[in-house]
Amino acid sequence: MKMELENYKSNISNIIAGGFVTSALTIGRELGLFDTLTKLTTPVTSQHLADLCNLKERYVREWLGCMVASNIVSLDDNDDYFIPEHCKPVFGDINIIEIYPLFNAMTKDAMDCFRKEGRDGYGYEDMPTEMVDAIDGRMGDVDKLVEALLEPVLTKKESSLSNILDLGSGAGVLTRALGKRLPGAAVFGVDFNEIAINKAIAKTGSCSNVTYLKASGACLPSDWTKRFDLIVLYDVLHDLPCPSECMREVYRVLKDDGVVVISDPHVHSKHRDNIGDFGIAGMTYAISSVICLPSSMSTEGAAGNGIGWGSENRESFLTEAGWCIKDKRQIGFSMNLTCGKSH
Ligand SMILES: C[S@@+](CC[C@H](N)C(=O)[O-])C[C@H]1O[C@@H](n2cnc3c(N)ncnc32)[C@H](O)[C@@H]1O
Repeated sequence: MKMELENYKSNISNIIAGGFVTSALTIGRELGLFDTLTKLTTPVTSQHLADLCNLKERYVREWLGCMVASNIVSLDDNDDYFIPEHCKPVFGDINIIEIYPLFNAMTKDAMDCFRKEGRDGYGYEDMPTEMVDAIDGRMGDVDKLVEALLEPVLTKKESSLSNILDLGSGAGVLTRALGKRLPGAAVFGVDFNEIAINKAIAKTGSCSNVTYLKASGACLPSDWTKRFDLIVLYDVLHDLPCPSECMREVYRVLKDDGVVVISDPHVHSKHRDNIGDFGIAGMTYAISSVICLPSSMSTEGAAGNGIGWGSENRESFLTEAGWCIKDKRQIGFSMNLTCGKSH
């Protein structure tokens, strides 16, 4: 019993500690400390690192103390600091922490939604505008993600993918990557958040095959019927207040032999099946309580799915709506479904 209590206490302590260390990770990322440490080939003193980043040594030394204690930065025999070579690739994959400070600031709004007398939810357009950029920036290696998403699709000839829709495109990180990967295709990004669409347009750069449109997924242009070979909903379906209406529109605008790629965080629909999965289920349920669930509760009669909807319920929803799941695989912490029309 005593041991159980000790383990229980240390689990909670570690989780609380993780929150604080995450804010130190944010400091390291934002102030270029990780960038510099990963580029260095030899260990450095705190003074050298501070000088390279144009920061005050005393603060950098305090930060390094946290990093060493947390096994993120190593010490050599002279007590100089380094990140082992084989660990460096991890720093290309921690972009999600960009969301953390905004997420913390939004927790108060989410608590209002928990209260019976509080509002039901809020959409992305009501979130801090910086959230749009943080979501856009969270992706890490987006080109690698596009390859993984397209792998089950490219059994079809690449050249037959001439019209692509990225639905719920946000500020367009994936839309741009799809445009770059398939330069012969016309790629459309659609989102109902005007701020996101304006940011996407501003970031378009040289992607001349990419076009953005502000529209709800539940009401796509009437002349788009059977237009698309490929439709992507990346990290979107569980967020939608109106998933049935949106998937009906997706069905309408998809060619009969077209495919839909749907990716959402992979948590199980039954809480029991997520026991111990702190890294994916624990984290994404927390994110959902503040971001995804309020979004999917944001309108009258909303579905209220959020991430807790879970992979099993999402699959049933799709098959019951007449979709045929042609491929199913985990990509990162998401479950990726490649679907087509059932005939
Ligand atoms: C988590 S973000 C994902 C953005 C983008 N797919 C990405 O992965 O970077 C979910 C997006 O869905 C959009 N969204 C939610 N409901 C929508 C609707 N009914 N129609 C169009 N977009 C919607 C939100 O505005 C938001 O940009």
